[in-house]
Amino acid sequence: MMKLVLASRNQKKMKEMNDILSGMGVEVCLQADVGIDIDVEETGTTFEENSRLKAQTVMEASGLPAIADDSGLCVDALNGAPGVYSARYGGEGLDDAGRYRMLLANMPKGQPRTAKFVSVITCCFPNGNVLTARGECPGTIAFAPMGEGGFGYDPVFFLPKLKKTFAQLTAEEKNAISHRGRALEAFQAKLEEYLK
Ligand code: IMP
Repeated sequence: MMKLVLASRNQKKMKEMNDILSGMGVEVCLQADVGIDIDVEETGTTFEENSRLKAQTVMEASGLPAIADDSGLCVDALNGAPGVYSARYGGEGLDDAGRYRMLLANMPKGQPRTAKFVSVITCCFPNGNVLTARGECPGTIAFAPMGEGGFGYDPVFFLPKLKKTFAQLTAEEKNAISHRGRALEAFQAKLEEYLK
């Protein structure tokens, strides 16, 4: 069983990763589970940079292979915002609901509401090897929140084909189409190749 330390405090991210990777004998644990309490400053301007920064820092601190996901929501009518700033959109004082309400309020009237979620996964190994994978999921910004599941912007991320938001899907349904699910699938293929 190979253990990967997830550079995050997000239990739900860890669960999404384990749902997908446990099938290949890989176990993902939180950084707190190996006694690491660091908040890596996301100083990069791309998902790739921030993902690498988080994985590299936690790998160096733990001496174990570390995995990080940097993700966010890119809205076309907002020129890609909130993007890498998704977690900090609107400032520190807001919670998830505060952030998606602010996003709804900032949507320009009469413009297309197309958007995409992006996830970039980076895995840094103590021997210096690095694996990376990207996944995207297209959708639109709903006019009002719907659903109770998931986290973050899920209640306002609408999938026209399914006529549901991410928050109205089961974990399995979300994993099958989500940016993180797709990035993890691509990552899994690279990891299998790497471990051969
Ligand atoms: P990160 O943890 O620095 O990668 O920040 C990602 C931010 O993007 C999260 O705090 C959420 O606001 C948002 N986000 C990423 N993935 C999802 C998702 O699957 N659903 C809803 N929001 C997400």
